[in-house]
Amino acid sequence: MKKSRTEEDVYILAIESSCDETAAAVVKNGREVLSNVISSQIALHTLYGGVVPEIASRKHIEKINQVIEEALKEAHMTLEEMTAIAVTYGPGLVGALLVGVAEAKAIAYAAKKPLVGVHHIEGHVSANFIEHPELEPPFICLIVSGGHTHLVVVKDYGEFEILGRTRDDAAGEAFDKVARAVGLGYPGGPKVDKAAKEGNPKAIHFPRAKVEGAPYDFSFSGLKSAVLNYINHANMMGETINVPDLTASFQYAVVDVLVSHTVEAAKELGFRKVAIAGGVASNSALRAGMKKACKKAGLEFYYPSPVFCTDNAAMIGTAGYYEYINGARSGWDLNAVPNLKLGER
Ligand code: KG4
Ligand code: ZN
Repeated sequence: MKKSRTEEDVYILAIESSCDETAAAVVKNGREVLSNVISSQIALHTLYGGVVPEIASRKHIEKINQVIEEALKEAHMTLEEMTAIAVTYGPGLVGALLVGVAEAKAIAYAAKKPLVGVHHIEGHVSANFIEHPELEPPFICLIVSGGHTHLVVVKDYGEFEILGRTRDDAAGEAFDKVARAVGLGYPGGPKVDKAAKEGNPKAIHFPRAKVEGAPYDFSFSGLKSAVLNYINHANMMGETINVPDLTASFQYAVVDVLVSHTVEAAKELGFRKVAIAGGVASNSALRAGMKKACKKAGLEFYYPSPVFCTDNAAMIGTAGYYEYINGARSGWDLNAVPNLKLGER
């Protein structure tokens, strides 16, 4: 709902189209979400067992105007009332990103509004600010999505120090691959999460990979291979696979490593606050495991609601707000940067 407006209020219209969600949101003063509209293409991509980039771009083009209109309408605001336009410009699928970037540039130019390009991962981290008004940097954040696994120190708004990263697969990718291998389909994360609820996480012991000399790095390819070997072996022996036990055991192995690295880093480096971000942050076992370990270690634990964990534009509006008030402005030459690294502009 629109509230009384003062001169200092900053309203950001945010646009997100980096992968398979076309999303727009209106965010007031960085932390108040007035609308958060998400048009998901998941059902469409499910037919192909994963995101088809060409189809994603076409769908974004079809949906983007409607999604933006809905976001303004739900916020009871007009484009003229916006302070600035924020848009994800990377990382992500180039064709998908370009749709949002081109749209944001056109809108900002026509309405004479400042344009702010936002880093998608900075958006994921910023999702934590939406529901925790008291949360401020510095804190430790574990970022786990379909394409990224990073353990970082959030030193300030938009300022990160990378402590560790995955050496191979992202955590979400591992979930998606294991789900495919046991026939759960796409998108794998939520399906594994659900199947694992009925299983015993200690039924099968899978390896927890450590990266020599890099205590905060991750590696999931060994675990993925171990799961695939287990499935192949069972198939060869004509044994039926207990999907709940298998998914619960795999999930336990992933969560164990994610939680221990994160809590260890916070303790070692003397941080009191820990947050999680990205699509995998909506995983129920990760949330429960992190909650328990943080409590035991005397750390404050922050996590976004599931709708703010997976791709959405509200998080881009929050990140865009902090960029905007710090003076960041993008030119009309803003381009999509598919492999934009964390900490890069
Ligand atoms: O952050 P996100 O929506 O998109 C990227 O920026 O990548 O993350 C998507 C990833 C997918 O790999 C999906 O399977 C995973 O997040 N995911 C989950 C859950 N919900 C989404 N993984 C585990 N458990 C979940 N509940
Ligand atoms: Zn994402």
